[in-house]
Amino acid sequence: MVFSQELITIDENLFLGQGVQRKCYLHPQNHGLCVKILNSPQSKSQIRRIKSEIDYFKLLIKKNMFFDFIARYFGAADTNLGRGHVFETVRNYNGQISKSLDKILEDETFLSKNYNKIFTALIEFKNKLYDNAVVFRNTSAQNILLKELSGGAVKFVLIDDLGTVNFIAFEYYFKFLAKIRFKRYWDRFITMIETHNKKPSALKFAKDLREDFIKHFS
Ligand SMILES: Nc1ncnc2c1ncn2[C@@H]1O[C@H](COP(=O)(O)OP(=O)(O)O)[C@@H](O)[C@H]1O
Ligand SMILES: [Mg+2]
Repeated sequence: MVFSQELITIDENLFLGQGVQRKCYLHPQNHGLCVKILNSPQSKSQIRRIKSEIDYFKLLIKKNMFFDFIARYFGAADTNLGRGHVFETVRNYNGQISKSLDKILEDETFLSKNYNKIFTALIEFKNKLYDNAVVFRNTSAQNILLKELSGGAVKFVLIDDLGTVNFIAFEYYFKFLAKIRFKRYWDRFITMIETHNKKPSALKFAKDLREDFIKHFS
């Protein structure tokens, strides 16, 4: 799946963020899009992981499954920094880049003021992933962005950690397997939130997430 045959010229002014494996830049001609490029294009494990994510996106596209809680994928493109993949940039209604959940959990003032709507949005996000049997993996709060909509509503959008590197991805074809897998990774995600955050509202957030998990999955 190719986004464009033209070479995209990236410069550091377009830098958006960096994860463990990839750097993300705004698309120079369209800031509604961003381009992700591997930090180490020679690393076999990085290539495998990215390939599995892209394969999963292709499968979702083939099945006509487009979700508003996952940043959309548009295809591969070559850049001056190597092969990249083009995604939707997650932005708030006012154009600002959406903040990640880990930043929200560190911001005691913002979280305490908006606690209920943020917590409810994360539970809705979780329910949608689960109900649609989305195959995701070990994710962290850095990879879930809080999109602020006009009128004060919010929703979460996943930007990373889709698919599985398992050799045969049975989860892609059997919903019940995807759901079993989901529970395992959501449990790990909550554990990460429980251990990484110490501020009062973040601690309450972790506790409430755990209660929701016990109520729905145990
Ligand atoms: N769709 C997006 N919209 C806005 N920012 C993004 C998007 N995708 C990635 N980013 C930013 O780039 C960083 C790295 O991207 P990510 O896909 O998480 O790479 P990695 O696989 O290395 O973790 C993110 O933590 C975030 O700051
Ligand atoms: Mg990431």
